[in-house]
Amino acid sequence: MSSWGNKVRISIFGESHGPAIGAVLEGLPAGEAIDLDAVLVQMRRRAPGQGRFSTSRREADTPKLLSGVLDGRTTGAPLAVLIENTNTRSQDYQNLLEVPRPGHADYPAWVKYRGGNDVRGGGHFSGRLTAPLVFAGAVCRQILLRRGIHIGAHALSIGPVRDDAFPVEIPDEMLDALARESFPTLNPNAKARMLDEIEDARKALDSVGGVIECAVTGLRAGLCGEGMFGGIEGLFSSIFFGIPAVKGVAFGAGFHAAAMRGSEHNDPYYFDAAGRVRTRTNNAGGSLGGISTGMPLVCTVAVKPTASIARPQESVNLRTRQNTTLEVHGRHDPCIVPRAVPVVEAAAAVALLNIDGILETEDR
Ligand SMILES: Cc1cc2nc3c(=O)[nH]c(=O)nc-3n(C[C@H](O)[C@H](O)[C@H](O)COP(=O)(O)O)c2cc1C
Repeated sequence: MSSWGNKVRISIFGESHGPAIGAVLEGLPAGEAIDLDAVLVQMRRRAPGQGRFSTSRREADTPKLLSGVLDGRTTGAPLAVLIENTNTRSQDYQNLLEVPRPGHADYPAWVKYRGGNDVRGGGHFSGRLTAPLVFAGAVCRQILLRRGIHIGAHALSIGPVRDDAFPVEIPDEMLDALARESFPTLNPNAKARMLDEIEDARKALDSVGGVIECAVTGLRAGLCGEGMFGGIEGLFSSIFFGIPAVKGVAFGAGFHAAAMRGSEHNDPYYFDAAGRVRTRTNNAGGSLGGISTGMPLVCTVAVKPTASIARPQESVNLRTRQNTTLEVHGRHDPCIVPRAVPVVEAAAAVALLNIDGILETEDR
């Protein structure tokens, strides 16, 4: 389904080259002030056509609110938003009806939907469907910020180029600053080298992937972890894996934990000056037993290199049943990572509002 969430549910509809895409967000608390300008900041961070790393498809991405907000406040009724598709060039996708792109959803979708799926621009599998998710996330983020919960992410790596990782204690202001940028990194030098890496890939008619590191601060200890399968990791990863091109999700030390000794991996506890239980390191990424530890929630999300590359590639013609060579036309990002950063933050915001008791502030 293109719906996700039990407490606050997001449903996303549309196809890349149809008249419009959009979302319905249900279960929001009533009476929450929504600053549409702040929502637009998030939409612009994800929007295409921002620089060399991004597709040249230009979309205004102007959200039209249809319901759920009155006089700038949520009404508690389903919030519906519509975003028109204006800049489509469907002829670029004509040959994909017969010859699927390696690395994209064209072939398995053709089999599953018996050729009925809209292949233009990737149809419902397009990265464009993340625009309504970013809208919804921006609404949820405002509700969370009011309770002292901050979300921010950055490009931790692009190809072989690495940014610094988050420190153990993450200042809220660090996350707020990242959450305003269109290509956030912690180290400005890393960003310059990442841009070069993306440009190299583009010139080589190729693409490059990377890892996004996302953090949440202000989460008190003891949240989530509803039994064996209702933990933080499951909640967050199930929405992250809905983001097109996401192929891996890890928490804290993640896969690196497997190569560590317990003495190295365990996060030692201590009381800070305010009497709060903290840990010296955060290899757990803020979750133990699927329950929040009170430390920042830190996760990494692996984004694959863009499937649609301009180089000729081997493929098959599903009509003639011949092997063939495919040249992909259309406008594609040589690297999805920068535009996926606000998408990961948005998904985290929607996930957070699905945690029981998240909106109750209680100090322990
Ligand atoms: C913001 C964003 C933009 C994307 N842009 C493109 C693109 O221009 N070309 C492309 O081939 N894939 C793009 N994708 C990824 C594809 O939609 C995705 O790889 C495809 O649907 C197959 O799904 P999977 O990679 O999750 O298996 C984008 C994804 C995101 C999140």
